Amino acid sequence: MIKILGVVGSPRKNGNTHVLVSGILDGAKTVGAFTDILFLGDKNIKECNGCHVCWQGKQCSKNDDMNGLYPKIIDSDIIIFGTPVYWYGPTALMKGFIDRFVYFNSPENRKEISGKSAVLVIPYEEDNPETAVPLVTFFEKSLSYLEMNIHGKIIVPGVTEKGEIKEKPIILQEAFELGKKLGYSV
Ligand SMILES: Cc1cc2nc3c(=O)[nH]c(=O)nc-3n(C[C@H](O)[C@H](O)[C@H](O)COP(=O)(O)O)c2cc1C
Repeated sequence: MIKILGVVGSPRKNGNTHVLVSGILDGAKTVGAFTDILFLGDKNIKECNGCHVCWQGKQCSKNDDMNGLYPKIIDSDIIIFGTPVYWYGPTALMKGFIDRFVYFNSPENRKEISGKSAVLVIPYEEDNPETAVPLVTFFEKSLSYLEMNIHGKIIVPGVTEKGEIKEKPIILQEAFELGKKLGYSV
């Protein structure tokens, strides 16, 4: 059974990122995938400071929730990275989460992440398609470095208010269908 972990990097529950990530997971569930959702805002995730203890085959030196999340990440086949555009980049929550992927940047730990699939979910306010480009590039470069493969992107301009995405049924359907496709894949 395919395991999909949806990561919500917006601090806003029931916001546009949450709705889109849930839509993908709902689609995946209809074809039998096992799904889980992670709200980064509910977690205590400290900043990586490059101590590199994790590169010595040891547990990360930070005593926080991330040490419990590494097994969940490793156990997943597909990870959905959901974040709104915040100042042309990810939210601080998502950036802090990705920074802790330094853990996977050693030969021992790299094999735990390489080959996994990823999906990007990025809502934002402006109508300009250029607005999301730096954030998409950040993910493409970082995930490629980790030898992960991006299998889908839901990038939605023109949504500002909490849950405004619900007024866009075509995009909700796109998210649901992507979930179904992911649920069958890998
Ligand atoms: C701190 C902050 C920074 C933001 N920066 C941008 C930005 O640079 N460009 C943009 O188009 N929208 C920006 N937005 C708007 C959000 O991307 C938009 O409201 C999005 O739909 C929020 O998603 P959510 O409901 O999942 O939190 C920003 C919002 C906040 C709170």
